Amino acid sequence: SQGNFVKLVEVGPRDGLQNEKTTIPLATKIELIERLARTGVSTIEAGSFVSPKWVPQMEHLLQQKIQAPVPMTYSFLAPNIKGLQNAANILKQNPGTFSTQLEPSAGSEKPALEVAVFAAATESFSQKNLNCDIQTSLERFKAVIQDSKALGLRVRAYISVVLGCPFEGFDVDPHKVAEIATDLLESGADEISLGDTTGLGTAPRTSALLKCMAAAGIRSEDIAMHFHDTYGQALVNTAVSLEHGIRTFDSSVGGLGGCPYSPGATGNVATENMVYFMETLGMDTGIDLDAMSDIGAWITEELGKANDSTVGKAVLGA
Ligand code: HMG
Ligand code: MG
Repeated sequence: SQGNFVKLVEVGPRDGLQNEKTTIPLATKIELIERLARTGVSTIEAGSFVSPKWVPQMEHLLQQKIQAPVPMTYSFLAPNIKGLQNAANILKQNPGTFSTQLEPSAGSEKPALEVAVFAAATESFSQKNLNCDIQTSLERFKAVIQDSKALGLRVRAYISVVLGCPFEGFDVDPHKVAEIATDLLESGADEISLGDTTGLGTAPRTSALLKCMAAAGIRSEDIAMHFHDTYGQALVNTAVSLEHGIRTFDSSVGGLGGCPYSPGATGNVATENMVYFMETLGMDTGIDLDAMSDIGAWITEELGKANDSTVGKAVLGA
């Protein structure tokens, strides 16, 4: 039933592949996205419109005709107006291909686009990832969010390093996170994704952060959690988040991922592990675990790396 539904946002094609040192053929990326789209997942973070000098592997996947068999949202990172303009150009060049909130009658058969901006909870991470301070980034994001809404695009807003920073350690103030989240929501963001970029998050600190968000008046339905599994704490932190009413989580097939500006951090929590965990709790993700496990085995093999999903390996008997 609806009350048991947990939304998983599949971030593998973006958060997963952005960290790969070797060039991944575009055909492989498209195959990954098309296979993911058939598992029942409803949102796929497919790439980013960032400076190619900063993250070189993200070309504009949208210009390819990706097949979307189910009502699907494709999410793209855009750090500034230039990134959004690149996305808007694709919308203009492909009229009627994507549904937007401005044309609800366009029908649910068409994929929707979503823009994601990404702030940071610490000044050092903001400088490393965005080359500006937090306040400047929030001013830029306000413009990106408002222009996105004018185009009828949903907007999610990340806040990175909320439970630990590669440069400032555990010294991240949850009140600062709540303040940044409030600013982004007031600018018009539809959802805040709280990123444990380093995987330093623990159960007590996850709980303290979410209490602080609630005390600041931020609703649990406006929050997604984005755990990385560096220390194997992602599912524990997920359980704590569920108790705080969170029902949206980001995960990555095969546990792909890592942030290029977060040295030492491993991948996102594996989608296979999340789907299995939700099933054990009687929660419904709508995702086919076998299909997801096959994709995890396939893409990690393609990339020449180990399959980081314990559940995926167990399901496949590998
Ligand atoms: P900057 O160097 O200050 O930007 O970088 P600039 O405005 O001075 O522009 C520099 C050059 O980049 C110019 O080109 C611009 O045109 C170009 P030039 O004139 O030198 O030829 N440029 C762009 N090109 C394409 N698309 C754009 C764009 N913007 C500028 N959008 C900037 C500032 C924000 C651009 C840069 O810092 C950047 O791209 N950062 C993104 C880094 C990134 O992608 N990080 C990974 C994603 S975040 C993450 O992984 C965390 C997350 O998973 C959550 C979690 O785990 O916590 C989301
Ligand atoms: Mg991430």
